[in-house]
Amino acid sequence: MEIIIQPDIPAASRIGARLIARQIRRRPDSVLGLATGNSPVPLYAELARMHREEGLDFARVRTFNLDEFIGLSPDHPASYHTFMKTHLFDLINVPVSGIHIPDGMASDVERTCRAYEEEIRACGGIDLQVLGVGSDGHIGFNEPTSSLASRTRIKTLTDRTRRDNAAGFGKPEDVPYHVITMGIGTIMESRGCLLLAFGRKKAKAVAAAAEGPITAMVPASILQMHPRAVMLLDEEAAAELTRADYYRWVYNHKPDWQNF
Ligand code: GLP
Repeated sequence: MEIIIQPDIPAASRIGARLIARQIRRRPDSVLGLATGNSPVPLYAELARMHREEGLDFARVRTFNLDEFIGLSPDHPASYHTFMKTHLFDLINVPVSGIHIPDGMASDVERTCRAYEEEIRACGGIDLQVLGVGSDGHIGFNEPTSSLASRTRIKTLTDRTRRDNAAGFGKPEDVPYHVITMGIGTIMESRGCLLLAFGRKKAKAVAAAAEGPITAMVPASILQMHPRAVMLLDEEAAAELTRADYYRWVYNHKPDWQNF
């Protein structure tokens, strides 16, 4: 795992955006896996700026989002459909036909999940998956004890995750209990993973994921088994890493990485 520690969120987000831009320039019909939450917001803003000012072209890009709340219509203000439109899709030229987000209103959830997996496969798999991490170490909405081999399916949120995600809802009680999420096995099949984590609240989960044992209790720890996983951190999220100096040295002595 590459662990990149930056002084602040804007610096880390610029590196993340440059990685994604490099992927799109190399392969204009790239398949991106996308995440919601606060962590990728500055990265999406930087991608939108690159589209506006540098002509970064999303015309042939396909996207798959990690997850969605069950029971929220796409135009619900707290849905991940709305989030993605606001923070990215309305600001770039990705065609609507290339966008995939799990359908929170699906009547047959199991069939919808199977179809989502099939659509990912039909697009040739995900080239680069953006991830955040929950304060309990979850990725997507794969809560602790999720099978490390899981596929897209329904999950039940913990109270902690429901509290962490309450901001977009009127009251914390309004946060749905159920979600559709790509599985950990699905995420692991992407050809690259880019996990963003910022702030002191993430420091424990980051240290457990990067330096602890691989365990379903910390779903993000499975990224240790991924051949191309990058963790982009600010100093606060890196605060509990025992090898932070080593990771900084490695990054600062990699001319390759300085070309972003
Ligand atoms: C939710 C999302 C995750 C996201 C996590 C962290 O659980 N389903 O994909 O990584 O929140 O969110 P934030 O970046 O706001 O801390």
